[in-house]
Amino acid sequence: MESNKFAKLRQQFLCCYPVNKMAWSTLQLPLELEEQRALIAATCGHPLNQQYPVRRSYQEAFVKRLMHVLKDHDELHDDIYNSLCGQLAKTSLDAAPAPSIYAYKHYMLQSEEHITLRESTSFVCEGTTGLCTWEAALALADYLLEHPSLLEGKNVLELGAGTGLLGILLKHKALKLPVGQVVITDGSSACIKLMQENISLNFEYDSDEATPKCAQLRWHEVKEFPWSQYAEPDLLLAADVIYDDTQFSSLLAALDFVYEMRSNRCEALLASTVRNVDTLHNFMVQLEQHGYQVTPCANVSCCKSHFCRDTTAAVQIVCIKRLN
Ligand SMILES: C[S@@+](CC[C@H](N)C(=O)[O-])C[C@H]1O[C@@H](n2cnc3c(N)ncnc32)[C@H](O)[C@@H]1O
Repeated sequence: MESNKFAKLRQQFLCCYPVNKMAWSTLQLPLELEEQRALIAATCGHPLNQQYPVRRSYQEAFVKRLMHVLKDHDELHDDIYNSLCGQLAKTSLDAAPAPSIYAYKHYMLQSEEHITLRESTSFVCEGTTGLCTWEAALALADYLLEHPSLLEGKNVLELGAGTGLLGILLKHKALKLPVGQVVITDGSSACIKLMQENISLNFEYDSDEATPKCAQLRWHEVKEFPWSQYAEPDLLLAADVIYDDTQFSSLLAALDFVYEMRSNRCEALLASTVRNVDTLHNFMVQLEQHGYQVTPCANVSCCKSHFCRDTTAAVQIVCIKRLN
């Protein structure tokens, strides 16, 4: 019962949803001491966080915010102070605290199922933007969960997969999605290493075909990719890869290569956070010049959200086909 009461805050805490946007209004104040204890147990004290902790600075910000929310209470439970002191002590005990480059996030799915990912604590790290999960990947994940028929029997290839969230989701045992082989690729070696680690975290005892495959694919080297080692892709996925126009020609060349290899018997879903309308438009124009038909997917914004997403910036998802 306790865990249900704090389910939304727990879900948000475990994936580091911004503390100022958390569902604090779901708390029915005032909270009895026992309820305060239960809330800390469901968040900082959650077994997932104990085993694979989320970013230390995030935990600290969460507890400080909670203390602010409970500021009119006569008494706060010791566990609240202890969580904060625990975080501060960890910081001061490190003689020269090296900022932790990686921490964990836990994306809760239906019931108690979850995906745990190791991610970078900064947006750009080791020369790539791919070591943390972006909103476009979460939006595309939501879209696919709402439209599982799009995956029916399809072999999936993801380009620029970053942390590997989408591929790990598609093969998640509890979801039983009707997908074929899933290959997640990225050009960055750091991303490949991280994806492999994240696959191991989420598929401990699974057979080879039950897990996503992971491989390095740099778009400008698409011809050198060992295609014969994988099933022919029917569905391409890419999230948040349209932000750097210096990469457009190699991304288009990669798409052209795959569509030609498949004699156009494949399609792609491309999810993009709308940051710069001109950059996105420019890429869509180039897609059309390369003979692709680009169709915006309907109802993306009102798609049920299985993930905690910050919807401040809109995400656009388009379907890309090429007719013979
Ligand atoms: C903003 S990140 C998005 C990561 C992930 N799709 C997500 O949405 O969380 C862009 C990704 O594209 C990859 N990428 C950029 N240029 C690439 C290229 N030329 N070849 C292959 N991957 C590339 C980066 O390494 C990075 O992982």
